[in-house]
Amino acid sequence: MSRTGTALITGASRGIGLAIARRLAAEGFDLTVSARSPGTLEPVAQQLRQFGRRVHVAPADMADEAQVIELVDQHQALHGNLDVLVLSAGVGFGGPLADYPIRRFDTQITVNVRAPFLLVQRALPALRVAAASSRRGAKIIAIASITGIAAEPDLAAYGASKAALISLCESITVAEAEHGVSATAISPGFVDTDMSEWMRERIDPATMITSDDIAELVHSITRLSRWAAVPNIAVTRPGAQLWRA
Ligand SMILES: NC(=O)c1ccc[n+]([C@@H]2O[C@H](COP(=O)([O-])OP(=O)(O)OC[C@H]3O[C@@H](n4cnc5c(N)ncnc54)[C@H](OP(=O)(O)O)[C@@H]3O)[C@@H](O)[C@H]2O)c1
Repeated sequence: MSRTGTALITGASRGIGLAIARRLAAEGFDLTVSARSPGTLEPVAQQLRQFGRRVHVAPADMADEAQVIELVDQHQALHGNLDVLVLSAGVGFGGPLADYPIRRFDTQITVNVRAPFLLVQRALPALRVAAASSRRGAKIIAIASITGIAAEPDLAAYGASKAALISLCESITVAEAEHGVSATAISPGFVDTDMSEWMRERIDPATMITSDDIAELVHSITRLSRWAAVPNIAVTRPGAQLWRA
């Protein structure tokens, strides 16, 4: 298969980001994959290379501004343009609002919103170049959460960070229309990954959304023309929990 494009994926070592990386590699994307731990990223990259694509491993902590910027620079140095930026790295800590530790709030804002903002700023030149030569334009796809749309008990800080991420995606599409760059937030309820492990006693993981469901949506978005903007996709579980996480 000839190269479809290039993608940089954060949070690619496991869960939703890994499923997206697999899907985009299978569809012909050369990749930069990132997360904090190089030890988990290397075996992931080896799996992904079996699709015949170039895969660059770039460990980075989204809480470290210099590492966030370096990540984009590494992608550009290796792959040139950037067709698709996937923002999947994220953290979530629950707890009652009344006595919630502010440091946890700060961590979620830093990793879930500040890092995406920085990544987007740094990546825009490479995204604009890619968009200029493609009828699809260039895409930014952020994994937000349904808690950013509808409040969920004990997830005030996480929900606020994801609401901000959804808003950021809208602003990107408004600001970058003339350059052919658009952004989509995907806002799921519980997805069966390590992050939702704490809910497994209350919700059967077999009934949770799958990482492959999210990867399917990401792939579809990458195939849209530059004239179709999708600001936000809510993905929820069928039944009485519709619009709940
Ligand atoms: N699972 C759900 O129920 C659910 C629902 C809605 C939205 N989401 C969102 O979906 C995204 C992916 O979640 P997931 O379920 O796939 O979670 P996960 O299985 O816990 O994976 C999280 C990924 O992010 C990376 N990461 C975490 N902190 C990081 C940091 N400070 N810097 C760089 N990378 C970091 C992790 O790798 P390292 O630990 O090696 O850094 C890992 O690759 C998140 O943004 C999450 O908020 C998840």
